[in-house]
Parts: sequence; C-alpha cells; structure tokens
Amino acid sequence: MISAFNEEWYFSERFSEEWLSWQVEDLLDENISQVFTNQGFDKVRLPHTVKELESNYCNEEDYQLLSTYCHVIDAPLDWQNKHVFVNFGAAAHLAQVYLNGQLLGQHKNGYTAFTVELTEALRFGQKNLLLVQLDSRESNNIPPFGKAVDYLTYGGLYRGVSLEVKETSYFENVFVNADKYGILNLKLQAHQADICTIEGGVYDSSGQKIMSISPQLYQEKLSYALSNIDLWSVDSPTLYEIKLELWREGYKVDDYNTRFGFRSVEFKADGFYLNDEKIKLRGLNRHQSWPYMGYAVPKSGQRLDAEIIKYELGCNAVRTSHYPQSHDFLDRCDEIGLLVFTEIPGWQHIGDKEWQEVAIQNIREMVEQYRNHPSIFIWGVRINESQDNDDFYSATNALAHELDPTRPTGGVRNFKNSNLLEDVYTYNDFFHNGSNSGCEPKKKVTKNAKNGYLVSEYNGHMFPTKSYDWEGKRLEHALRHARVLNDVAAENDIAGSFGWCLFDYHTHKDFGSGDRLCHHGVLDMFRNPKMAASVYAAQGRDKPVLEVSSAMDIGEHPAGFLGDIYAFTNADEVRLYKNKEFVKTFKASQDFSSMKHAPIAITDTIGDLLVKNEGLSPKAAEQVKKCLQAIAKHGPTALPFSIYPTMAKLMLFNGVTYEKAERWFGKYVASWGEKATQWRFEAWKDGVKVSQVIKEPVQKVKLDVTVDHAQLCEEDTWDMATVRIRAVDQNGNTLPYINRSLTFELTGEAQLVGPKHVPLQGGMTATYIKTIGKNGTAQLKIKADGLEDYLINFTCQGGKENE
Ligand code: GAL
Repeated sequence: MISAFNEEWYFSERFSEEWLSWQVEDLLDENISQVFTNQGFDKVRLPHTVKELESNYCNEEDYQLLSTYCHVIDAPLDWQNKHVFVNFGAAAHLAQVYLNGQLLGQHKNGYTAFTVELTEALRFGQKNLLLVQLDSRESNNIPPFGKAVDYLTYGGLYRGVSLEVKETSYFENVFVNADKYGILNLKLQAHQADICTIEGGVYDSSGQKIMSISPQLYQEKLSYALSNIDLWSVDSPTLYEIKLELWREGYKVDDYNTRFGFRSVEFKADGFYLNDEKIKLRGLNRHQSWPYMGYAVPKSGQRLDAEIIKYELGCNAVRTSHYPQSHDFLDRCDEIGLLVFTEIPGWQHIGDKEWQEVAIQNIREMVEQYRNHPSIFIWGVRINESQDNDDFYSATNALAHELDPTRPTGGVRNFKNSNLLEDVYTYNDFFHNGSNSGCEPKKKVTKNAKNGYLVSEYNGHMFPTKSYDWEGKRLEHALRHARVLNDVAAENDIAGSFGWCLFDYHTHKDFGSGDRLCHHGVLDMFRNPKMAASVYAAQGRDKPVLEVSSAMDIGEHPAGFLGDIYAFTNADEVRLYKNKEFVKTFKASQDFSSMKHAPIAITDTIGDLLVKNEGLSPKAAEQVKKCLQAIAKHGPTALPFSIYPTMAKLMLFNGVTYEKAERWFGKYVASWGEKATQWRFEAWKDGVKVSQVIKEPVQKVKLDVTVDHAQLCEEDTWDMATVRIRAVDQNGNTLPYINRSLTFELTGEAQLVGPKHVPLQGGMTATYIKTIGKNGTAQLKIKADGLEDYLINFTCQGGKENE
C-alpha cells in the first residue's frame, strides 16, 4: 500500500532538541494541533518552502534555516510484521529523520528522493511522532555548497512525500531498459524475494495488454523481445507501461508500475542519434525555481515548464541545470518528446573526500531514480564547470555506466582540452560576444575528435537582458541567440546546444543585477517571453510565429534612428504594408543561412512608395531611398562620404531640395508629423497568409491573460494555476514600458500565492492560484487603474474532501 503523505504536516522555522523527546502520548493529552501551534508550528501541505521570497531583492539568508517538520502517524495493529517506509521526493538540503525521538535516517542531497524505513521504531496501535530536522544552510559540506553558487538553493520538503506499507518481500528498484529493436531488459532488485514469483504485463498507451509476463520464479534479470512496437521519438513519443507483481506463498505481496519507451540513444563523432536518426539538439537550461515559492511547486507547474519548452519555444531538448529535477517535469518530457540532459548537483566547486562521497552517492540516486525516463539521453556526471579531477571523475563515470550501460555520460566544463573521462565532451561555450562567430568549432575545444560533442551553455552572463530593457538591447539579445543557433547548425560535428537559459532565476548577491536575479532567461521568471524567446519559437513547426523586433518608434533609439528591424518567424516571407500600401517582401537573412527559420531583416521600409506617391522615376527613387536610409542608419552628421555624390546628383538633376528631403525623411523613415502611421507585417507560408503583426500608435491598453488550467484538481496534493498576464495594445503587442500596478482579488475556495499588488515588468507578470483542499469555485479579479477588470473563474476539486 502506498499513499500520498502531503497533508497535516506541522512546520517550524526553528529546531529544538527538546522536541526530540516529545512523546506523542503527552501531546495527545492536549489538542495536538494546539501543542504545535503553541510551539510556533504552522500546519502546512507539501510541497512546501521554508520561506516565501520576494520575486526580487530577496535575501538568500532568509531560507538558510534549521527547521522542523512534524507529522503524527497513526500506526494500526495490522502494520505489525510489515515494513513501513516514508519516501521523500526531496528535502533541501540535509535531512535527519526521527521517529519517536529515534534517528532512523539522514539524507545529504536536496535534489533526489530518499526512503526511510520506520518499522523498528514504530509503536503499533498507537500514534507516533515523525520529525524531520531540515537544514537548508549553505554551510553544509555537501554539493553544491562550499563556494559561491549562481542560483538560490531554497529549502523545504519541496516535493511530494508518500507512506508505504510493504509485506516481507517487496520491490526495491526496477530498471526497465527497452531499445530500438524491441528488446526489453528488466533488472530487478527486491527484498527477500528468493521464494517469490513474478508476473505481469506490458501495456500500450490505450491500456491494451501487448505482452504477458507469465508467472515465474523471481530473478534479477529478465529479457523479452517484442515486435510491432512503436519507438519513442521526439515527434512521436510513444510510451508503454509495465506492470509487475511479486507473489509469495500464493499472495500478491507487491506491485510495481512504470512507463517506459523503446528507443536507443547514441553519440557519434558527428552528432547525436535517436533510433539511428541524427537530431540536432536545440535546448535551453532550466532551473527549477519560481517567484515566491522557490522550488515548492506542484505537478501542474512542473508540467507547464516542459510544455513551454517544447510548444512555446520549439525546443527538442532541455538540460536540468544543475541537479535532477521533479519526476513530474520528467514525466511530461517523456509524454511530449522532450529530450533531457540531467546531472548531479554541483557548481564549480569540488569539496573534500566526504563531500565527494556524497557526490558519488548522488550519481547512484540520480541514475537509479531516473533511468526509466525515456526522455533522458545523457547523464551529467561531473560537477558543473569544475576542474579536472581524474580519481573523482573516473569513479562517477564508472558508477553511472555500471548502473546504466545504455546511456552515455557527459560532464560540463568551461575550459578546453580537459581530460575526457566521459563519452561526450559537453562544453559551455561563451565565445560569442556579439561581433564574432556564434560558437567555436569542435576541434578547437577538444582533441577527442571521435567522441560526441555538444554545447551545454552559451550567452547567459555574456548579455544579461531584462524584459524592460530598451528595444535595441532586447533585439541584440535575440540576435545573439540566433547567431549561436545558426553557427551550431552549421557545424556538422556539434550535436547541438543548450542556451543559458530558459528563464530568469534567483541568485546570490555575488551574481545577477543586484536585485538577486540573473536576467539571463529568454523568458522572465514568471515564464513570460522576452524577444529572444521568439528566435526559439520560430524554430518550432506547430503554429505560425511572427514577432517583429521594433515598435517602429524612433524616439526609442539613439539619435532617433530606428536601427535594424527583424522579424522572427517560421513563415517563408514577410510582406510589409505601410498605411495599407504594400511596401516590400522580405525573406530570410543571409547572415543566418544555416538556420531553418532564420530571422528576416526588414531592410527597406520605403519600397516603391517614392515612385507611387512622389512621382519620382524608379532610378531617382532608388537613389533617394539610399540617401534616406543612410541618414536613418548613420544620422545626418556622420554620413559615409560615398553617399555625398548621390545626394549632390539628386539636388542638381532631380530637383530634390533640402525641404523635400526633410519632408520625405519624416514621411518615409521617421513617420514624424504624419497622420498616425500603421505598419502591417504579414507572414506568408506556402502562398498563404498565416499571421500578421500591426504596429501603430497605442490607442487602447488592455490585459491579455493566459491561464494554464482553470479546473483545478487535487490528486496527491494541492494544485496550482499559473496565470500569466500581459498588458497589450489594440493589436495585441506587449507594452514593455507600462509600469502600472495590478491588484489581485481572489474570492472562493482557493488561495493567492505571492503579493496582492504587483507591478507589470516589461509589460508582464504572473500570479498563482492554489487549491486549499476544498471543493468549490473561486474567482480572480485582476484590477489596474484605467484598465478594465479581468475576471477568471476557477473550479476547485479538493482531494481530501472528496474522499
Ligand atoms: C555558467 C554556469 C551557469 C550560469 C551561467 C551564466 O558558467 O554554468 O550556472 O552561472 O554561467 O551565464
């Protein structure tokens, strides 16, 4: 029997030795929750963070606590002669687990699960006190601590917990390894299973049994060959389920179910292969953090991130920098075909022997706990960006290979020609600085030509960019991502790349912009897109994408010159109209010739309009245009000498006067003093208009809100809706400089996470609505001065009350 164990926890921000000697009987004399309340405990549900933090300018010392979680366990008599376990999804970062005052287990890693057996200290037929002392201080001698770390590590029992009651024999671990030939290898580990039998079956995604595992004596290795199976791939991520039963003396004593996929992964000298098909990996690095909640976000938030990466950003891969992440996130990656590079916790620093032993244990936990996810294609077995350390890394590689012979290892470095003990050279390539190539060729980084090679990070700190930075900076941020993607695409022997990073993240005082944030994301921390997001989105195929880099406002630019304008799109061409008049058609920029959907440079906003409207001959019109464009680009005082002869000719032979030129500049370039100019950009694909963007003076401001799901439903614990909010103009363009504040008013059976009043940043923000264990409805009203209220209705199904 396994049951969720996320309710009725009592939490204190303190720890007191005296609580270890608490006897539940004593507590029961009084109202138990009163006792906890008197001692300063709060009743909480998991996932839980030890401290909610501000979305910026927070303090990393706030969560560095020695805290306590307590739970009363009613142990019925029929648990006698059974094994009782508590499985913790994660405890950040050092947990000591006591039952009735007796220390039963400890765990030194905030990012993997662990199990503690309670049996020996349980009092059956009585109430028992489970107490977890949780140390989230960064002074602990465990990874990733020991030096500075560029991300906040938070604290808490921030994933789910379950309680399990087992018979004498039970499954401990099952490795399901299924390859592209349909071979299914099972490696089983079970407790006291010698006299047991095993049986089960394999089921397809519709629940149809496609293979039976007939009853047989328990053995550690089983192998089957299946035919007519569909492989797991990025485009068609077919999953199967295996259900195993353990029988002892005629009784079923345990079962184990898991999903898996048939597929094979391989790195060759020239790239990455999934089921023999070469795939260029295009991904981003993900931290598992959120505003306010830190790491403590339930299933729906985890799943949403995977969906954003695949469907909103068109990526086929993600790196879970710098630690293993929630199985809810990985499950969604399995379901939607998003490849995952996962790695052990750590950041640049390798500690002493004791520290390294924990890291090796982390390899074991990562591989044993995550190896049934078909989406994982490589294990990161080095501390991110650490120095070579052959003894240590020989051990991490050997253990990963022993526990999983099917996947390659990698290990992320930030220097060249490191001693390669892994299968794949994974390198953080921060070479691109805006004016050079997007990446280094493989041969310049490693002499291991025969091994696979991939770029595990790029950009990031090279060009931090906020959603509320000025347009030119946001464009350069986007172009830097495009340049790297393009140049990686051009290098046949680079397996792919992972941009730094998916979204802005909380960090320590030593990093970031002084606001405790690294603004390195292509999304902000609320998962709202910056301009660079559209470079990725445009590589996706699912839906038409068209983003125009410029608001077409000259006053946003130095000296009033618009500068470069780009369209990021997956269409074939962009057609530009000015005040409904056709200007010109533009195609992919040759500067990005290796990218599938390259940015399109909008290099001419005049087209044939001078001929049409001003009666100029085509030749004269071209020359006038050249001059106007030169003025727009360089300004009137810094014109290149080459343009003066053209100007002189126009004045002498075509009757162009200074006044005319000034008027044309205003009308065709600056749109200054004219009646409101409307620019319409149309995206065309296969001869069909698929999308359009209109830029014109803002006449109306309204809120545009995306709710990931409004029917909230508790399963194992609380559910959460993510409400992403943008202020947009009448054409749906985000207004990056609107700084109005929003007020959230929530009524009904749900709770708001984070503050009630928030400012728009870069025209965007988000809020979160969590369930409170009750059935009912809730309504969120979003208010801002001068804007219409926005109403969202939720239905809430509270797990506990449904039972
Ligand atoms: C890398 C590091 C990341 C992040 C990034 C910022 O060196 O691995 O964690 O700090 O730099 O660009």
